[in-house]
Amino acid sequence: MTPQERYLRAFLEMYWLRPETALWRALDCLALDEVGMSGPVLDLGCGDGLFTFTRAGGRMAPDFDAFSQVGDLDAFFDKVDIYNFSDANTRPDVRTPPAWTVDVGLDHKDALLRKAFSTGLYREVVEADANADLPLEDGRFGTVYSNILYWLDNYPLTLREIRRVLRDDGRVLLQVPSETFRDYSFYQRLYVQGGDPRWQWLHLIDRGRSDNIRHCKTFDAWRDDFAAVGLKVAHHRRYLSKTVLEAWDIGLRPISPFLIEMANKLAPENRAAIKAKWIEGILPLLLPLCELDWITDAAHPPGFHLFVLEKGA
Ligand SMILES: C[S@@+](CC[C@H](N)C(=O)[O-])C[C@H]1O[C@@H](n2cnc3c(N)ncnc32)[C@H](O)[C@@H]1O
Repeated sequence: MTPQERYLRAFLEMYWLRPETALWRALDCLALDEVGMSGPVLDLGCGDGLFTFTRAGGRMAPDFDAFSQVGDLDAFFDKVDIYNFSDANTRPDVRTPPAWTVDVGLDHKDALLRKAFSTGLYREVVEADANADLPLEDGRFGTVYSNILYWLDNYPLTLREIRRVLRDDGRVLLQVPSETFRDYSFYQRLYVQGGDPRWQWLHLIDRGRSDNIRHCKTFDAWRDDFAAVGLKVAHHRRYLSKTVLEAWDIGLRPISPFLIEMANKLAPENRAAIKAKWIEGILPLLLPLCELDWITDAAHPPGFHLFVLEKGA
């Protein structure tokens, strides 16, 4: 099985009701696989931990997935994070433990951290605001991984804090949006940038996400931000093509609360059986997109960067 198929299958097990998320996450992993990680590791903005758990080879029982424990689904339409809910009585049934562990997972949402800790991936979880000084010792980590910089108001402070908690020979792995990211959102391109009011309805597809993904910058602009805090680029590549991001943009997000509600009414064995069928059905659509992510042209550079940073000017 190719790495593309292995990751897609694993992430579809976890995110089957949001196949576009599975595609993005598989491509995240394929980019990260080009880069090693040495411990101790900090996962900054770890969320529910399911991404790094899956990346590390962890697998849950087939009836468990990212949608098994959610809060009030009606709140989805008020832009509440329905995943920030942890049911103390439900523990995920880990079938294959992750092949490696993460020393610290940090996030500002306690329910997500409880879920993350319950996977067994994290030795320690820390609830803290990444827009402020981090409650972590200087020089503690060999690797700091983060894919949340674009959520933060004050990311230059966060970058300084990341550098502070990094060992002198440590590395930072960052996944951040590029200057083209918004161009591949139908809502942004046709309504916000195009200014044509007939496309206003596309907000129903966008649901605020292209605004939440802030700090969309060129390689040079990111490199300068890193240099300003004493971090230099040791490795870089772009990924998430226009085609992939346009497929992701449509996705199943607007109808996901209804799908989740339906799925959560299924008996566990039915859920596992339907999910298995669903994955086989959707794979022929997603696998080519995943394999062809590298296809692009000069006018449409991919929408995300992977940066590996080291201490230095
Ligand atoms: C898109 S999710 C990514 C989660 C996880 N890294 C993953 O890949 O699944 C963004 C995460 O950033 C966290 N986050 C956003 N702002 C934060 C802040 N100021 N401090 C700490 N965590 C924050 C959210 O709670 C959420 O878990």
